[in-house]
Amino acid sequence: MNMKKLLLVLLALTLVFAVAACATDGTTDPDADVQQEEEGTAEEGTVEEGTVEEGATEDETAGNAANGDGNDAVLTMATNATFPPFEYYEEGAIVGIDAEVAAAIAEKLGMELEIMDMEFGAIVAAVQSGKTDMGMAGMTVTEDRLENVNFSITYATGIQVIIVPEGSPITSIDDLFAEGAEYLVGVQQDTTGDVICTEDFGDDRVMRYNKGTDAVLALTTGRVDCVIIDNEPAKAFVAANEGLSILETEYAVEDYAICVAKENTELLEQIDTALTELIEDGTVQTIIDKYIVAE
Ligand code: ARG
Repeated sequence: MNMKKLLLVLLALTLVFAVAACATDGTTDPDADVQQEEEGTAEEGTVEEGTVEEGATEDETAGNAANGDGNDAVLTMATNATFPPFEYYEEGAIVGIDAEVAAAIAEKLGMELEIMDMEFGAIVAAVQSGKTDMGMAGMTVTEDRLENVNFSITYATGIQVIIVPEGSPITSIDDLFAEGAEYLVGVQQDTTGDVICTEDFGDDRVMRYNKGTDAVLALTTGRVDCVIIDNEPAKAFVAANEGLSILETEYAVEDYAICVAKENTELLEQIDTALTELIEDGTVQTIIDKYIVAE
């Protein structure tokens, strides 16, 4: 190849790389994460405090991570980052109360926190199978879940509330129970809201969505009559949408805790110790106050 040809080839290559670089830039829109998740792909995010451990593999099983014996240990947390103010995306990173409390726990354990985002209904199985060390997702302690995983001490309270459009004929939970009532209820799939509503109102009246925001969209577009979801995300969704309000009645009061595989008792103890300290020294409350402004 003569010099001229070589230069042409180099020029062509440069162009290809330049185009590739532009294409990459173009995909960094904030919705990219969300789309990925809708396709059911588990994506990983990190909290500001934690860094992703390079080369962390699934080999780092729950047992291994529980040792907390070196600075290269990784604590993996499964979550569903569609649940403000507990876990949600901000500028491409998963932030929120759970992300920060988990980071504080990891720090106490001398471990690096790695957050794995997945569908809410996949978390318990991921923890049970050892794919991830713990699940933290504004997750309510329930008898059903306790059959598959253990829970830490509780660190927050959640209340199932009812979101309605302004002027809705539904003014209290009683209206949903009323004889002959046919109101459709939107919920996030596999949450306690889903489970309780299905029990109380039957399958036909419960519309399940992948995310709370999708249930709220169904409400604002008139496809469901109300949405039943945890109070704090409810407040965030109502604040983000015109014409919605939250009814006074509390449908269910629940405890949030971290789930860990049944056999991983050592990690559960470490988490409980760390969490107790973080509650006692006010760290948990400080984190909660940062995300939830008292009324
Ligand atoms: N507290 C409810 C439950 O445990 C809802 C939790 C949903 N969490 C989430 N990150 N999407 O079922």
